[in-house]
Amino acid sequence: MADVIRIEEVSAHVGETVAIKGWLYLKTGKGKLQFLRVRDGTGIIQAVVFKKDVPAEVFEAARRLSQESSLVMTGTIRADPRAPGIPGGYELGVDDLQIVQVADEYPITPKEHGVEFLQDHRHLWIRSSRQWAILRVRATVIMAIRDWLDSNGYVNVDTPILTPAAGEGTTTLFEVDYFGQPTYLAQTGQLYNEADIYSFGKVYCFGPTFRAEKSKTRRHLTEFWMVEPEVAFCDLDDLMGIEEEFVSHIVRRTLEERGPELGLLERDTSALERVEPPFPRISYDEALEKLAAIRAETQDPVLKEALALEWGSDFGSPHETALTKLYDKPVFVYGYPTACKAFYMEPWPGRPEVSKSVDLLAPEGFGEIIGGSERISDPALLEQRIREHDLPPEAFTWYVDLRKFGSVPHSGFGLGVERTVAWITGTRHIRETSPYPRMLNRIYP
Ligand code: 4AD
Ligand code: MG
Repeated sequence: MADVIRIEEVSAHVGETVAIKGWLYLKTGKGKLQFLRVRDGTGIIQAVVFKKDVPAEVFEAARRLSQESSLVMTGTIRADPRAPGIPGGYELGVDDLQIVQVADEYPITPKEHGVEFLQDHRHLWIRSSRQWAILRVRATVIMAIRDWLDSNGYVNVDTPILTPAAGEGTTTLFEVDYFGQPTYLAQTGQLYNEADIYSFGKVYCFGPTFRAEKSKTRRHLTEFWMVEPEVAFCDLDDLMGIEEEFVSHIVRRTLEERGPELGLLERDTSALERVEPPFPRISYDEALEKLAAIRAETQDPVLKEALALEWGSDFGSPHETALTKLYDKPVFVYGYPTACKAFYMEPWPGRPEVSKSVDLLAPEGFGEIIGGSERISDPALLEQRIREHDLPPEAFTWYVDLRKFGSVPHSGFGLGVERTVAWITGTRHIRETSPYPRMLNRIYP
């Protein structure tokens, strides 16, 4: 048999006889010609079955094939600039065709389907070209995350999923019965990262993260992936420098390696090409002024109402969307009110009502992709905050301990993989950026 190639390598095999193993994505035919669009996981190629070039039974088999039938094709790769596919511009002139299985009638057809139907068929929907492209980008984003951290001196130290206490507020905890003792699925690995920096200096954890989010939004999953770097001897300014290098690398890598997928998704890549350090940095107070100015100018009463915000409250998605539309790059908003952020954040010097926190908001209305801060390094202040937040002190003894043995200023952040992929791929709803999304009303399949 001819050598089996993968569709993504097709340009290196023009003129050769090769075999391709895959699934029928779309078939069109007229008379003596059948056009089979076949996907193999790495791309899509158009195969042309010409009646006079193949045995009669092969032509008949091609005519009968149903969508998603599995097959092995042998033939010659031809360059043809008009040929559709990913990468486009190549087709396979078929000499032989082996059918592995003729598929049953496939429920997902090129016609439009409702999103509930598609979500019920997520196990099949992931084969569709849009979903395939988004998940290929996701894999590259994850690779770029690890590459950048591993090659910049960060040690990957995994943190537990089963945890005895809240890391990010008590309202979104999933409780698990741990041999009779209540335990929670991790909302963050950060607190353990903070222990780990005292052994390794710069660390990251990367894994699934759980939040019992009771609201249905385009931006919230109950299970998502977060990468959390943490750095010793690092203040808030240093942290923003790290974040902008990191995010720029992820975007650059995706542009380099996933051009065809971004093309299929019709992503405007010029917006991504602008993502280079430095990113604009504005304070929460400045952000409020900008929001007030937008409110004063808008004629839209709904927007005016949605953008109303008292000093002290956290931004909702309308605020983030409005702010990011002012910039053509991701923007840092730092110095949020202490009251709207987590218990562990270092206060602003001389302004205890403000925290040394920073969120990174993605442009084009995508909103927060990173949350981070400088952490409290003083044990007495940390104990006070644990009390103020009504957290059980005994669960945090070890965490306060970290401030007693060589405590240093330190900072870290968490980047949400699905939010980042939604932005890079231009996907408006986060559910398409997770292979099997978990949401308030969805746990199947
Ligand atoms: O801002 P968050 O809650 O920050 C933390 O968890 C910190 N402990 C991180 C740290 O400093 N080590 O979450 C960080 C990011 C958000 O910016 C967002 O991208 C993502 O995690 N995220 C979610 N993504 C999807 N669905 C949800 N429900 C999310 N909640 C947070
Ligand atoms: Mg946040």
